[in-house]
Amino acid sequence: REKRGIIVAIDGPAGSGKSSVARLVAERLGIAKLNTGAAYRAVALLALREGVDLGDGPALGGLAGRVALEPSGVLVDGRRVPEEELRAPEVSAAASRVSAHPEVREVLLPVQREAAERARRAGGAVVEGRDIGTVVLPGADLKIFLSASPEERARRRALQTGREQEVERIRRAILERDRQDSERAVSPLRPAPDAAVIDTTGMGLEEVVEKVVGLVRATDGEV
Ligand code: DC
Repeated sequence: REKRGIIVAIDGPAGSGKSSVARLVAERLGIAKLNTGAAYRAVALLALREGVDLGDGPALGGLAGRVALEPSGVLVDGRRVPEEELRAPEVSAAASRVSAHPEVREVLLPVQREAAERARRAGGAVVEGRDIGTVVLPGADLKIFLSASPEERARRRALQTGREQEVERIRRAILERDRQDSERAVSPLRPAPDAAVIDTTGMGLEEVVEKVVGLVRATDGEV
């Protein structure tokens, strides 16, 4: 019997554990994972490299046209961008600004949808981002929205990046990014009405993964 490709959308703010949860859930289910934030980060990286103004929507939209998304990562002009370049703090901050421009979102929308469709046909995908359940893939088979307190998210980020001394600074950066991401006019960060919201404050990674895998199994018996 043919296995139907399932699409699981995982949205949530910075530090909610999205990336780790998406990776482990995808591994557990044996399906692909798409990290859509990497596409926004790639546009930001290009803008910083090429000196494009982070307020210039049309120019940033042009840069977005050079970005492709795959389960293995993001490509710029057909070349893979190393993860550590995308993760730099200045790229994170710039990505948040870049992602507020409708011109950028418009270009990246079909890029994300087509990547998800290819992955679905190849067996399914966990697609991670901010507006996957609301805008990019409103027809996803399962929508998860992960949240956690700002304090908890800052602690996780600090541990993850070996900057335990800087929790307070990271907490402020996270709050600023939350504000930008949820107050923007286009595709603000919010749970889809039919999303399962999981507050992961005080939960271990494995516990969250178990919970999501359980929801997937309840959604589609064939997976
Ligand atoms: O998930 P992340 O931290 O790698 O995302 C980087 C930025 O991109 C973040 O500030 C929000 C934005 N983003 C978005 O607007 N829509 C998405 N689907 C994914 C990310």
